[in-house]
Amino acid sequence: MFERVYLDNAATTRLDPAVLEEMLPFLADDYGNASSIHSFGQTARAAVDRARHQVASLINARPAEIVFTSGGTESNNLAIRGLIESELRKPRVAGESLPHIIISAIEHPAVKMVCDDLAGRCEITVVPVDESGVLDPRRVIDAVSENTILVSVMAVNNEIGTVQPIAEIGKAVRAIRENGRRIWFHTDAVQAAGKILVDIEDIGCDLLSLSAHKIHGPKGIGALYIRRGVRLHPQNIGGRQERGNRGGTEPVAQIVGFGAAAELAAGEMTATANRLQKLRDAFEDQVLEIIPGTLVNGDRSRRVANISNLSFNGVEGEGLLINLDMQGFAVSTGAACSSGSIEPSPVIVALGRDDEYARGAVRFSFSRFTTAEDIERLLAVLPRSVETLRSLSAGLASK
Ligand SMILES: Cc1ncc(COP(=O)(O)O)c(C=O)c1O
Repeated sequence: MFERVYLDNAATTRLDPAVLEEMLPFLADDYGNASSIHSFGQTARAAVDRARHQVASLINARPAEIVFTSGGTESNNLAIRGLIESELRKPRVAGESLPHIIISAIEHPAVKMVCDDLAGRCEITVVPVDESGVLDPRRVIDAVSENTILVSVMAVNNEIGTVQPIAEIGKAVRAIRENGRRIWFHTDAVQAAGKILVDIEDIGCDLLSLSAHKIHGPKGIGALYIRRGVRLHPQNIGGRQERGNRGGTEPVAQIVGFGAAAELAAGEMTATANRLQKLRDAFEDQVLEIIPGTLVNGDRSRRVANISNLSFNGVEGEGLLINLDMQGFAVSTGAACSSGSIEPSPVIVALGRDDEYARGAVRFSFSRFTTAEDIERLLAVLPRSVETLRSLSAGLASK
């Protein structure tokens, strides 16, 4: 059996053994409820408090501004729905326009689908990105109208890795608010935190979503940063945990794991990013040289180091994924299977790629555990795989 190579780290990452080590006591003997007054509870509470500090310091926030959630999806739901619901619960005057939200065209479904679901109760504007997957902050600000209460733009795209100009957007939103308007800025930083510097003061955001399993922490735990003074209507009701923002007994082991993962990520982020950038760029240069008809999706310079999204003309991304999987390589596509046919990734389509390139997009994503040998092994099989699939599809087309 061949050794498997995991290159799908933007989907999820391996739990770091050091993180597991920190979690284990809370899955065994230290099983107290963090809300209990006895010593079991105090041990759990101290562990949750420590993790809250660790997560807060990853983004330069205050611990009291961190609310633990079940992950990035819930954080985005709490940010967007929580803000809109708190707005809609205020007395409204007859004829008052609906609250308005602005998002980018390449948001994760955990933002996009929440906004779709709010249609009818809110107005939504979707701002397009350019062909390299970057948003023009002026277009976002131009879309602001009298009733805009929320701008939500992701920090880093999960498929192509492009870094968005969120600090410019954050500052512009803040300037509008300082002129007396009620408007807030949310950023989904799930793919950014632990990969690039994320500082809530530099960004000027009011709400920011995080997830542990993208940074070698456990699945099922994330956080929402809520700037002091921002009021959200809670979505999980039934307990006063997380200062009333999110009811439910805290999953102490997961929270401890998130804290440990955040601290580790903060410590090794720059070194890993520098190493991966060299590996990733050399990989792409080689692929572009030896596989004709290949395109890099997303701005090559404004990207996180751990993502490479390539389109191979004349190849179905799904076909390549399966072919590589059979040879031991785990990669992914942003394509979705709907009504029996495979729809190309909406993110790649938003870049304006023609259908064939959009269907041929494959994401290779790396982590601190990815080695130069992993990339070498991939390079040893990728050209043959692309060639095989191209000749197969050419054969089918000629039938
Ligand atoms: C940009 C982005 N936002 C949100 C999420 C959802 O996070 P979680 O899996 O923790 O719910 C993901 C995960 O794929 C993501 O990449």
